[in-house]
Amino acid sequence: MDKLLLPVLLGTNRKRRNSVHPANWLLGEMEKRPEIQTKLFDVSDFALPQDNYGQEIKHLFPEWRDAIIQADGLVIVTPEYNHGYPGTLKAVLDLLLKEYIHKAVAFVGVSAGPWGGARVIEAMVTMVRELGLAVTFTDLNFPFVQKKFDAEGKLLDQSFEQRAKDFLDELVWMSHTLKWGRQNVPSKYHQSKGA
Ligand SMILES: Cc1cc2nc3c(=O)[nH]c(=O)nc-3n(C[C@H](O)[C@H](O)[C@H](O)COP(=O)(O)O)c2cc1C
Repeated sequence: MDKLLLPVLLGTNRKRRNSVHPANWLLGEMEKRPEIQTKLFDVSDFALPQDNYGQEIKHLFPEWRDAIIQADGLVIVTPEYNHGYPGTLKAVLDLLLKEYIHKAVAFVGVSAGPWGGARVIEAMVTMVRELGLAVTFTDLNFPFVQKKFDAEGKLLDQSFEQRAKDFLDELVWMSHTLKWGRQNVPSKYHQSKGA
């Protein structure tokens, strides 16, 4: 079976962001799985212009566009900023539209407080629905993230290994199923063998 292509998007460009630790750690867990091919995208690497926005400028980010065209799903690692998502993350997601349709998305929520980004994930669900992404129901939450990793980014709480496994199992199932659907069930949104 072909590998599933599942990029990870780190959703904050804040200088001392803690979200980098869950993103890197999860990337390592994904790389251990033979059925997954992944790559980390970091919103801080996107030189977004101040005077334009959205699909009009997607040609400036061909690596991102090609990755999402080829992707079977996407992992979004988002911090919770005032119960919402960072504007930079929204600006990166808004670069594309049809490229996301009928692909899976899974959320990693990161917060300094006790809710592990539950509120930002709820806020993102309504937004990614408009992108045509299909959301998994097994989020990975990192509450009190500042206590979950050491300064080098080493995970201090091994209970996250089982949580990450459950999170990835569901993402893999959704991604496989949607891949089969894209290839076999006609839709005006993509080419399929059955179309
Ligand atoms: C602008 C801003 C707003 C924040 N709002 C919240 C919040 O609503 N709830 C919360 O638990 N933490 C909040 N935090 C703390 C972050 O969750 C915390 O910094 C955590 O480490 C994840 O963000 P980071 O990757 O930028 O470090 C906020 C941080 C910033 C910079």
